Amino acid sequence: MADLDVDALRAGFPALASGIAHFDGPGGTQTPAVVGEAIARTLTGPLSNRGRSAVSERNADDAVAAFRSAFVDFLGADPRGIVYGRSATQLTYDFSRALAKRWRPGDELVVTQLDHDANVRPWIQAADRVGMAVRWLRLDPATAQLRLDELDRVVTDRTRLVAVTGASNLLGSKPDVARIAERAHAVGALVHVDAVHLAAHDAIDLGTLGADLLVCSPYKFFGPHCAVLAASPELLETIRPDKLLPSTDAVPERFELGTLPYELMAGATAAVDVIAGLGGERGDRRARIVAANARIEQHELRLRERIEAHLRSLEPRLTLHSVAAERTSTLFVTFAGHDPFAVSAALAERGVLAPAGTFYAHEPFRALGVGASAGLRVGLAPYSSDDDVDRLLEGLSAALA
Ligand SMILES: Cc1ncc(COP(=O)(O)O)c(C=O)c1O
Repeated sequence: MADLDVDALRAGFPALASGIAHFDGPGGTQTPAVVGEAIARTLTGPLSNRGRSAVSERNADDAVAAFRSAFVDFLGADPRGIVYGRSATQLTYDFSRALAKRWRPGDELVVTQLDHDANVRPWIQAADRVGMAVRWLRLDPATAQLRLDELDRVVTDRTRLVAVTGASNLLGSKPDVARIAERAHAVGALVHVDAVHLAAHDAIDLGTLGADLLVCSPYKFFGPHCAVLAASPELLETIRPDKLLPSTDAVPERFELGTLPYELMAGATAAVDVIAGLGGERGDRRARIVAANARIEQHELRLRERIEAHLRSLEPRLTLHSVAAERTSTLFVTFAGHDPFAVSAALAERGVLAPAGTFYAHEPFRALGVGASAGLRVGLAPYSSDDDVDRLLEGLSAALA
């Protein structure tokens, strides 16, 4: 497999000329010029509402079709199963409300201690309104993984939905979603996967994961600030959101309230094409996305191992919590005797951006049971370089000296 050409990739990102070493990818990546250009080109038109009569109408219609086609390739889904949303949080809230219409008191919901709050609270709030029981898949801090030994007990004949992350935005841990989905499907429950963190690091295939519904957010992988939900059209046909009377009842438009932001859809399509472009010349776009992710993974793993070796050398002044066997390149550490916000600020003075916080991973952070209020998250992106890592390691040593 050819290596990722990091220098060539970096040249396409105007923001990287600032000299900042970005380890804040899990919060949102920098944006390639071609993505910004696609947004500007689409928005400055000609652009009207969707239709086929005038070029301005066709431009809007084509932007929607191209967006659906890009995310079919990106997520291994069906074009009628790609829903645009403002954010993963918004999509999850919308679907939690729509699905709750068919839940009944006595039904059960399963959420996890590994999830970002965007895949916890919307479901719990919807379940509470119905009077459903909420059950938890627990996080084992020692392995940074979910306690799947408890899976059969937590998922019962009354479970209606299991909400689980594809990868933790705090720890990087990738749970065995396929195994969880198998158990959920055996009792007739739906599986909602939060792939917001996973999509930046892995080629996703809806079917292989076993997800009935899946959300991701293009701003985590070079795109604009928006989100995508993927599901089978057959499932979407059965879900009835609140909607305006004159708006279409067709799937997936039924879920896309109001006029779509064609320009953001064009930007998200361009981001998928940038990723596909990292996968070489061979095959269709799906094959190039898969190849690109293999290259990205190899690149990020090499840098991750460099960082991990250094973090180990700084123990016990810090604790590395990202220890799962299966995980992304995102590392979370807490400090003994140092304020993570002060460490982050010291790094920022050197032009190294690794934010401190808990990153809306409310449940995972609590489950870690550390005597701190926050930690430092170091995230790698495809454009992360060895020079970035050198500067991070020097900065960390200096801050903890
Ligand atoms: C794992 C995970 N899930 C959900 C979200 C929320 O995504 P959005 O900002 O699109 O609502 C984030 C954002 O950081 C995330 O990392």
